[in-house]
Amino acid sequence: MRGLDVLRRLTDADGTLALAELARVTGLARSTVDRICATLAHLGYVRLDGRDASLAPPLMAVANACLDALRVPGPLGPLADALAAELDESVSIAVPDGDDIRFVHQVLRRRALSISFRVGDLLPGEGSAPGIVFARGVDRAVDDQLVEPGLIAVAAPVRGADGAVVCAVSVVSHTSRHTARSLADVVRGPLEVCVRRMEQVLRGLRVPPQPVAGVVGTGVLDGAPVQSLARGLGVLTVFSAARPAMTLSEIAGAAGLARATARRALITYEHLGYVRQDGRAYRLTPRVLGLGCAPLSRTTVPRIAAPHLAALSERLGESVGLSVRDVGSGESGEFVRCTARVAPRRVMSVDIGVGARLGVRVTAAGRVLVGGAGAGDGVVAEGPEDGLWSVAVPVRGTDGVVVSALDVTAHRGRGEPGVWLAALRETAEAIESELRATSRFVSVPAG
Ligand code: PHB
Repeated sequence: MRGLDVLRRLTDADGTLALAELARVTGLARSTVDRICATLAHLGYVRLDGRDASLAPPLMAVANACLDALRVPGPLGPLADALAAELDESVSIAVPDGDDIRFVHQVLRRRALSISFRVGDLLPGEGSAPGIVFARGVDRAVDDQLVEPGLIAVAAPVRGADGAVVCAVSVVSHTSRHTARSLADVVRGPLEVCVRRMEQVLRGLRVPPQPVAGVVGTGVLDGAPVQSLARGLGVLTVFSAARPAMTLSEIAGAAGLARATARRALITYEHLGYVRQDGRAYRLTPRVLGLGCAPLSRTTVPRIAAPHLAALSERLGESVGLSVRDVGSGESGEFVRCTARVAPRRVMSVDIGVGARLGVRVTAAGRVLVGGAGAGDGVVAEGPEDGLWSVAVPVRGTDGVVVSALDVTAHRGRGEPGVWLAALRETAEAIESELRATSRFVSVPAG
């Protein structure tokens, strides 16, 4: 339970807090915070960096289990994406979380300056369009700058086969493009069609989503805390689209725990509102998304890669970097742009800054990004300047498409291409694994 509090506080702080600050906000002894964070770091859910603790991408496994088991973003996300493309506006899907609302899908097309919500973010119920839909049972709700000046939204409920509201879909825009009223007029038809299609999809699901309105944990728990944080968190990750509701025995079996241990964890979670019991079965509630989802989904490939680049640079004692094919310029595709670089501190280190553009043909990273025979296994190349050489390997997304190139660039004569290639591949695999966990339900920009 104290471990959950640490994860929740880190989430509320957008992902990172000093350990001393964590002790202050949780009211726990510093030694207890250190112990909990060491356990979370051991599980890969938190990264410790000097005096700070940060949420780490593997924690997305918890949010992914929740999003998958909710049966909402998976089946309905593509229809929200299509609506966003049709209207050229942002579209989101939200579900109730107690009296508040929680985003489970976001398609961002916001140009004007305004805050962007991400999957996992929480908004006050009555202060947002989806919240009004859930609270008042209306078929349309308008948010005319309730959340933020300039931000406007129109939301509609999506009902399951039994008529109960499962989620709300919102079209979100800005006062620089519309008034609340003109937005409501413009979206009326397309939103109605989208909702109808969503409801059709829901009726066709073998395992339909359950409405989650009215779930409120007490937030307090008397009695023994869960002994093992690791085991407790394991309970949350056994749920999925195929098994959104499970009995105690099924959960214990899937998590590899004794029944008594699983039961204790479930009692804790139910008290805190993360799990609800439904007959003999247990389900996750959207509150589980408060354990890391929003800060971890507000990320990019370079951010995911950063600690891995630092470790690789340290290990090889050389400059390592990440780059993408440069799109958006006139000569699009002819250049690669550096999105991250970590160089060891030394006088003669290679100096290529983030944002630097280099010709695709003069670097190993460029050749990896352009593809072609053999590029998939990595490339060793001269350049980018006289006296330098670089070795690069691809970093692939879940669909196998190359999203970035990872390179080590050094003065010629230093290093061993075979050793570097192996180290680069190992690092690329570690980044790919975290990218897979992160991008299952959210899009992660390449930088
Ligand atoms: C959003 O998706 O960003 C959003 C949706 C509904 C609101 C406000 C913001 O009322």
